[in-house]
Amino acid sequence: NLVNVSYCRNGFKNVNIVMLLMHNLLRAEVNRIPSSSHKEACNVISEPWRFDCYPERGVVVTQELCEARNCCFIPTSSASTSAPSQSRKNGIPWCFYPLDFPSYSLVSLNETSMGVKGTLVKGGTTYYPGDILTVEMEICHETDTRLHVRITDPSSSRYEVPISVPAAAKKAENPEYLVELTKQPFGLIVRRRSTGAVLLNTTVAPLFYTDQFLQFSTSLASPYIYGLGEHRSTFLHDVRWNTLTMWARDVPPMEQTNLYGVHPFYLTMEAGGTAHGFFLLNSNAMDVVLQPAPALTWRTIGGILDFYVFLGPDPGSVVEQYVDVIGRPAMPIYWALGYHLCRWGYNSSDSTWEVVKSLRNYGIPHDTQWNDIDYMDQFKDFTFDPTNFDSLPDLVRDLHAHNQTYVIMLDPAISSTQPKGSYWPFDEGLKRGVFMKDAEGKPLIGKVWPGQTAFPDFSDEVTHEWWFDNLRKFHEKVPFDGLWIDMNEPSNFVDGSMNGCPTNSLENPPYTPVQQKQSTHYNLHSLYGLMEAKASASALKRILSKRPFVISRSSFPSQGLYSGHWLGDNRSQWKDLYTSITGILTFNLFGIPLVGADICGFSEEPQEELCVRWTQLGAFYPFTRNHNTPQDPTAFSPLAREAMKQALLLRYSLFPFLYTLFHHAHLHGHTVARPLMFEFPGDVKTYGIDKQFLWGRSLLVTPVLEPGVDFVGGYFPPGLWFDYFTGDSVRSKGEELRLDAPLDKINLHLREGSITPTQAPNLTLWISSGQPLHLVSALSDDGSASGDLFWDDGESLDTYETNQYTYIVFSVSQVLTMTSQVLHSSQEASFLSVDSTSFYGVPEKPSRVLVNTREVPFTYRDNQVKMRFMLQVH
Ligand code: NOJ
Repeated sequence: NLVNVSYCRNGFKNVNIVMLLMHNLLRAEVNRIPSSSHKEACNVISEPWRFDCYPERGVVVTQELCEARNCCFIPTSSASTSAPSQSRKNGIPWCFYPLDFPSYSLVSLNETSMGVKGTLVKGGTTYYPGDILTVEMEICHETDTRLHVRITDPSSSRYEVPISVPAAAKKAENPEYLVELTKQPFGLIVRRRSTGAVLLNTTVAPLFYTDQFLQFSTSLASPYIYGLGEHRSTFLHDVRWNTLTMWARDVPPMEQTNLYGVHPFYLTMEAGGTAHGFFLLNSNAMDVVLQPAPALTWRTIGGILDFYVFLGPDPGSVVEQYVDVIGRPAMPIYWALGYHLCRWGYNSSDSTWEVVKSLRNYGIPHDTQWNDIDYMDQFKDFTFDPTNFDSLPDLVRDLHAHNQTYVIMLDPAISSTQPKGSYWPFDEGLKRGVFMKDAEGKPLIGKVWPGQTAFPDFSDEVTHEWWFDNLRKFHEKVPFDGLWIDMNEPSNFVDGSMNGCPTNSLENPPYTPVQQKQSTHYNLHSLYGLMEAKASASALKRILSKRPFVISRSSFPSQGLYSGHWLGDNRSQWKDLYTSITGILTFNLFGIPLVGADICGFSEEPQEELCVRWTQLGAFYPFTRNHNTPQDPTAFSPLAREAMKQALLLRYSLFPFLYTLFHHAHLHGHTVARPLMFEFPGDVKTYGIDKQFLWGRSLLVTPVLEPGVDFVGGYFPPGLWFDYFTGDSVRSKGEELRLDAPLDKINLHLREGSITPTQAPNLTLWISSGQPLHLVSALSDDGSASGDLFWDDGESLDTYETNQYTYIVFSVSQVLTMTSQVLHSSQEASFLSVDSTSFYGVPEKPSRVLVNTREVPFTYRDNQVKMRFMLQVH
């Protein structure tokens, strides 16, 4: 019976009531009243609720060390005889905060136009240096579904992430949240107004705000938590003592390791299928600790505490609200959605060209050819090898003549050892002062592929201009169409610099997140990929006057505005095939829908069967690229080659549907590759699914992820589903079904009530996009279905924003009465026609079928009606 206190309305005076009741509610097993002995007070805290007081790694935490921090020391029940360092392994802290551990008190609170502003003070210092004893907290009710909280140091300016987030004009009128504050110790509780569900409760552990250690914890509404990247894990995170470090790092994807990008955002389910999200806008190295309470701790070593709570209430709207803040993904240029082929090790432009021709010969769809660092002259950016890649400009011209495109690799590090006057990028960069400086103010020299290198500082606009000039000059020689920006964590083969690392507090923070590699650019490190992508996208726009195509390895919130992402250096293993699904789903949650993994794997040689299955799954990555070893379709047996070709043709035939999904991602922040739980949040059985996924709301993909099988199991949420190829229906009560899956097949099912626009595929999207549409309607029991199509010229900038697009809604309201409504039309629509349609789920043979008023021939078989006709959409 908690009294909900909205401080704005009811005033500060009620805060104490909330505080007492809150602990009763959330930690019923815990008695807050200090007990007579320290030990008893510690004993009342159950293991799942222990918040780690000694998170430092590499330290054997003894009772003495722990109690010196005034914390509780109790070896875990399961491992009480092992050494204290063992507690790190099973994760349950032996040293944890007692309930009365000193934290901040809320000493004043004033209403503001957007919410409240308060002051928090702390009586004494903690065991970390640089305690900030007075901090300011501002709570803004930005929208009905978005709450924004900032906790800052009023006496000095601390680092803030320079991404522009929209400011709300006025306070939300009917917020779906209730905010409650506890005074001593200070705590913030956010509830869902409609259900009372607790979405955030920071009273569970003390708040730390020191110069280089900021930490707060919260209970979680359920153990169903997603997001928090970039890591290799299952889609649904494990809350059993799982520490996820965030710090951009060049390391092949492996479990329990921080990878290339940083995304401090999570989505959590509540009881009953509602969802909320949380975003900590902070770029410093951090750990996020999940524990089975369930609870979560944010532990960052810099910046400020600046966070958002998104109320959803369904998972899809949580992501929409998140991308409202970080920026909606850019609409990709059409060929971004084609098949991309790449390899590290095409040792000449001629051998690259051979592969291109070979794909053409076999009629395999192929939009874009890439080159890795091999094309460069001694791995120097903005050069090409004059001997082995002498025909590169001709290759690119040939690609263009075949409506294909070309993407080059660029690493950020610039060779610093070329003779003066011989390498413009470095000479000019020095002149303009674009390189990152060391502690002495000289360009910091590290080591990457070309040897010793300087690193452009992309946080500076001057660097963007220099980057543009380099790209423009190189484009005059090799007319590339897009950029692959790699090694931008940034990766450096030496620690710090060729001169090592200086000794200072930034190099040696009091707390170091678990697996990060420290670096002097303390605040900006994890932003490097974002800033390089921004510079690259803007340069491409200026050079090509088209939508820029950039794929980046490192990423940060907002990245989707500038680039897509690939999941890095995976291996040619079945396990990697499986984990790639989590990768693409999670990046869709992060507002970067243009994402894929290296098809067939980056390192090691793939078996043929694996590569076939991977190409089938990869055909449903939003971004489809095969990279490395000779593993393009033509490198395999005719059978495998044909299976891969069919998978790619299938993707190409679905282009109108996929392109429309990207439009919705751009316009609303929708996911493209979508977890089942997004569409069926009321069905708990979908919460852990990461072996299947949807495109949009209706196309279910069930890939084979293991060797030697000709069937696959897949979960079908309740309802009617139709085999995409045959139209056969299956009515599921929410069951796992066994599906035939011979080597040449990927299972696809259409959800009832959907209309999917497709077209005849071809060798490139440019050619196929001129084909008439074929509409596939999967009818619900009541005979209805709907779908849509976004269409434009595929490459001009801002077509939606400048009204140069066509948008059509298709619907079937009664059996076989289909209408299309052109809600917006542009010149492009004149190229659109429909030449056939299929209706799945028609219980009886119709006596006749009319298209407009004209009767057309049709076939009827197994509840399906198919017909061909020609109709201009416009
Ligand atoms: C690392 C990238 O992740 C990989 O894809 C690329 O092939 C190599 N760098 C070489 O450039």
